[in-house]
Amino acid sequence: AGTPFLRELFADGQPGLLLTSRAPVPAAFRAELPIPPVLAPVHTDTTTDFYEIVQRPGKLGILPGLSTEAWTYHGSFPGPTLKTPAGRKAVVKHTNQLPHPTVVHLHGGHTPAESDGYPTDLIHPVGGEQQGSLTGMAAMSGMAGMAKLDSGGGQTSRTYTYPLDQRAATLWYHDHRMGFTAANVWQGLAGFHLVTDDEEAALPLPQGKRDIPLMICDRSFGADGSFTYPALAGGQQLPGVSAAYMDGVLGDVILVNGAPWPVLRADRARYRFRILNGSNARQYSLALDPQPPGGGALVQIGSDGGLLASPRTHDSIDVAPAERFDVVIDFARYAPGTRVRLVNKLGTGGTAEVMCFDVGTDGRVADDSHVPAKLSEIAPLDRASATTTRDFLFQKSSGAWTINGAPYTPGRDLARARLGTTEVWRFTSDVHHPVHLHLNHFQVLSRNGRPPGPYDAGWKDTVDVRPSEAVEVAVKFTGYAGRYMLHCHNLEHEDMAMMADFSTE
Ligand code: C2O
Ligand code: CU
Repeated sequence: AGTPFLRELFADGQPGLLLTSRAPVPAAFRAELPIPPVLAPVHTDTTTDFYEIVQRPGKLGILPGLSTEAWTYHGSFPGPTLKTPAGRKAVVKHTNQLPHPTVVHLHGGHTPAESDGYPTDLIHPVGGEQQGSLTGMAAMSGMAGMAKLDSGGGQTSRTYTYPLDQRAATLWYHDHRMGFTAANVWQGLAGFHLVTDDEEAALPLPQGKRDIPLMICDRSFGADGSFTYPALAGGQQLPGVSAAYMDGVLGDVILVNGAPWPVLRADRARYRFRILNGSNARQYSLALDPQPPGGGALVQIGSDGGLLASPRTHDSIDVAPAERFDVVIDFARYAPGTRVRLVNKLGTGGTAEVMCFDVGTDGRVADDSHVPAKLSEIAPLDRASATTTRDFLFQKSSGAWTINGAPYTPGRDLARARLGTTEVWRFTSDVHHPVHLHLNHFQVLSRNGRPPGPYDAGWKDTVDVRPSEAVEVAVKFTGYAGRYMLHCHNLEHEDMAMMADFSTE
């Protein structure tokens, strides 16, 4: 029952442009799983940790024998992980040494508008913008003129203040420049920011070396090892690039924490994995192969906005771009020496594999962790208390991705919400759109009039609205008055204008 373009452009299990790597694709399960470095503050005081991040080109060793020129946060991809105890402030100064303007957004952060990364609040490049760097969607979507304006100079660093007065959760930071987010993130601008709190620390969950963030994303590589992305130079569409990329760019190599199909040597013990789909457009359905005896391998303890009220057991988990799933896997359920693959049931060939866990041969490993039956308290947001219901239609119209029929126009609010009130927002889709709200987390109330799905539990900031589906969420607006964003987190859709402003007052 798909729309015509859906059938026409269906590639590798979903609509989009699947790029084939020219560089030799490495063998799976050779690289060791990297853990992104944790960034130390440059200084701290009683309330605040101060960080400095330089955005700069960097050379990454992703493929054997080749180096990948990337745009990095502080030299690494993923960028360095920040860790903040809830209620402590993080003040992060970003300096832009890349050849083009950038914007930083802390995804999942409860952040005042001036630090939230509004898509035109640019950090300008130190050396001015270089010609030919205008890759991405902007030229196609008529934003080339704006891109020229960007190069007019301006501040080359920017300090973002994050109060982080919120529950423990797996947040991430990434680029958010209007019209260029997809290309910027594809080139490497994404990293984790973990918020911790006492409630979570008091639980007997796996921790330390057994608490691991996993950023899963797909990329493709040019013959020289570079990240390939449909590039537009000087307003010209490069040969061989189809308009299919408007539906989403898909790579043929799956990276986890920046390594292709890596392997983690795991003890026969419980591990906590903070799974993030950091892909531009790719959807995953993640499962373990083999399943442990009795199934239920993936014990979900958290979602975008932190711990669930109680754990949920899954055989597989569907993860749309930007969603986070916090899961515990108990490798003691496997025989010593088992190779357990994390597979993607939506992929084909290489994209059907994600990574593997080589379970240790030591049968007696100390592990005093467990997953308690009660994790946290989540007060349900009640539909009856909502003051307003609003409708948002996500669809392609007149060659652009639109919300309520209009492409993104900065400064034009689609909604004005009163702080302290709860509203019901209803998102309706033509194709898959992972819909993301800035500022506040929400709770999923229904899908097509039925109860929420198996992956909708807890506090969410991104919900995958599936083809021809209407999803209702309840959101209570709290904190800060100002202008925020609502958008599709398929980054090609976002850049091709599926974004809107809303204001809180
Ligand atoms: Cu993760 Cu507005 O973005
Ligand atoms: Cu979309």
